[in-house]
Amino acid sequence: MAERAPHGAVASQRHDGILVLTIDNPPVNALSADVRRGLADAIQAAQDDASVQAVLLVGAGRNFIAGADIREFGKPPQPPALPDVCNAIEASAKPVVAALHGAALGGGLEIALAAHYRIALPGARLGLPEVNLGLLPGAGGTQRAPRLAGAAAALDLMLSGRHASAEEALSLGLVDRLDSGADALAAGLAYARELLAQGAAPRRTRDATAALADRAAAQAAIDAARAQVEARARGLFSPAKIIDAVQAALDQPFDAGLRTERALFLQCLDSPQRAGLVHAFFAERETAKAPETRAAQPRPLERLGVVGGGTMGAGIAVAMLDAGLPVVMVEQDDAALARGRARVEQVYDLLIKKGRLDAAGKAERMARYRGATSYDALADADLIVEAVFEDMDVKTAVFAALDRVAKPGAVLASNTSYLDIDRIAAATRRPADVLGLHFFSPANIMKLLEVVVGGRSAPDTVATGFELARRLRKVPVRAGVCDGFIANRILAVHRQAAELMMEDGASPYQIDDAVRAFGYPMGPYQMTDLAGGDIGWATRKRRAATRDPQLRYVQIADRLCERGWFGQKTGRGFYLYPDGARTGTPDPEVLAIIDAERQRAGITPRAFDQEEIQRRYLAAMINEAANVVREGIALRPLDVDVAFLYGYGFPRHRGGPMHYADQVGLPRILADIREFAPQDPHFWKPAPLLVELAESGRTFASLNHA
Ligand code: 3HC
Ligand code: NAI
Repeated sequence: MAERAPHGAVASQRHDGILVLTIDNPPVNALSADVRRGLADAIQAAQDDASVQAVLLVGAGRNFIAGADIREFGKPPQPPALPDVCNAIEASAKPVVAALHGAALGGGLEIALAAHYRIALPGARLGLPEVNLGLLPGAGGTQRAPRLAGAAAALDLMLSGRHASAEEALSLGLVDRLDSGADALAAGLAYARELLAQGAAPRRTRDATAALADRAAAQAAIDAARAQVEARARGLFSPAKIIDAVQAALDQPFDAGLRTERALFLQCLDSPQRAGLVHAFFAERETAKAPETRAAQPRPLERLGVVGGGTMGAGIAVAMLDAGLPVVMVEQDDAALARGRARVEQVYDLLIKKGRLDAAGKAERMARYRGATSYDALADADLIVEAVFEDMDVKTAVFAALDRVAKPGAVLASNTSYLDIDRIAAATRRPADVLGLHFFSPANIMKLLEVVVGGRSAPDTVATGFELARRLRKVPVRAGVCDGFIANRILAVHRQAAELMMEDGASPYQIDDAVRAFGYPMGPYQMTDLAGGDIGWATRKRRAATRDPQLRYVQIADRLCERGWFGQKTGRGFYLYPDGARTGTPDPEVLAIIDAERQRAGITPRAFDQEEIQRRYLAAMINEAANVVREGIALRPLDVDVAFLYGYGFPRHRGGPMHYADQVGLPRILADIREFAPQDPHFWKPAPLLVELAESGRTFASLNHA
């Protein structure tokens, strides 16, 4: 690790004939205007100073440079531009060495590629992750990376956005040498001295030819990448531009290639996808900073417990085991416990089959798993997640039992989907230790964790929930208590919008198509079939007594469930799954059932086009989300965005429903709702917050920083 420089964003220090430039812009040395200016000035000074023989670039703190300053995107550009800084480094008449440790990402790697020699330390992470922000490497990366690593490797890095290790970077030709130490300055100085001793001259990446010498191979790699992007990019803008830029690296002289890259970069920068993806980047970092995480320290988290070994209990146990923690699972009896353990093992066996885990990995995890049928086994647990049946009486009995056995200070969490955390907490003598931890299915895979804060949850209980999320590598979102919290509450409403459209004339297949065309990986009826129609059916039956009688209740899904058509697992649901197929095909019998239901309800079907389906689905989502924000169930609009990105696969390049609403314009969304209201006035009630913001010309984003 290099020392932090004593002053300035870029500090200059002389080590004999070597001018060391230390980039020092906490927390990650992003290339802000100050850093760019500092680098440009220092490189110029090095040219003018006859006593400087070589320049060494290092980063202060934990990273070399994590990239362009993402906060500057969308603001007026400030000189010098990053490509100019890179070009000035490359043009230096004196050798420039970059010593890389920690993150060397995006513009950070582009600076390094413009240097003449590169050395990397263990643990360095090199990558061009711009694609994740809707961009392409815009400071020469698309031209220099292929010249060093070849078209195939450069495209792989740029299209995946993944980080390569120092060792991989060496094998790809992105760096020249590895160091085994921990001091970037020392490693860089030693390398620079060695180069000077050898009389090494500047060696410019722009002049490198070997990696692209086999033009046919490079063209084949570009063609293959283009075919893959066309098949998989689901409407994303920047991947195709990345390929165009690499094509330019192959076809055009270096300076022309840079101009092509610049033009493509600016197109990406201006795209709404870039704005959506950058919003998502910051939003998901913000949600982790709930007020309780500032106000209190998390309690210890060494030993964990799970009550219930069903779908969720088993998935949660796997998530905990994967994080290296010991887990006790409690079930009702030996048979249920055996099933619970089998569910856990099944996950690992499948991973072994796919080659993503070995037998030793499974054994190591299972060694930390213990099953029990007595609550006494939870006496040592620091945190216990309850995942039993969704029934208030069962849950309160479990919490009363946990209250008897859990040690003082243990955090007691419920994974309930809808039930009132405060009532569950009231079953104990320690409601301050109780909160909701709402995982999404499959719990070992889905990233979202709603941390549900009850009326009496203590701040350190809540902070412990956030700490658990961090340990499990989940994305936590703070939620208040209400029926369904953030994600399920809003889901119920826009699913209802879909049901209404279906009864009014849209087929489930049209609705799924429209939702996929918006960018979701699957539509709502495909999701029902995947999760199992019986789950929603049970919920509907449970809630039948409390349903608002003024709301239209569409019975189509019930008709399918009554026939035992629960989706994929039963071979048919809204779709047919012949012979265990994983993708469904439309079912004429389902369409006939829908027709019969329309007749029963006295509805004459009408046509819906894709645009109207999308408008209704999203307007319903945004409207209920506005209620969730106004009631304080979500702290800010961005919390809703993150919940939807990670809970339900809302297309990330659209930033989340609230960001999307701002982009469309809140007056437009409000006008849609008012247009739909006459048909179903009980369903389409404009949310007061939406009205207030739309009529005062404000945005949801204005509430993110309040
Ligand atoms: N610009 C501005 N701020 C940044 C940043 C960047 N490039 N990268 C990270 N930050 C901020 C984060 O917002 C966060 O701020 P906060 O504390 O106020 O919330 C802080 O730095 C720490 O970030 P993380 O919480 O993510 O810290 P980690 O240690 O977990 O991860 C990292 C560090 C791997 C560097 C990760 O932050 C990351 O992946 N950053 C983005 C890297 C990236 O996308 N670079 C490309 C930028 S685009 C570009 O370079 C365009 C060029 O081609 C022209
Ligand atoms: P499940 O029916 O698959 O599993 C429940 C398990 O709890 C069963 O194995 C049962 O034997 C066990 N159990 C019941 N009473 C018990 C007791 N007193 N002590 C110990 N074990 C007991 O149910 P599932 O789907 O896992 O749901 C569990 C909870 O998670 C519910 O509250 C549900 O609402 C919630 N949830 C479910 C999601 C899903 O997609 N299935 C998603 C998020 C939350």
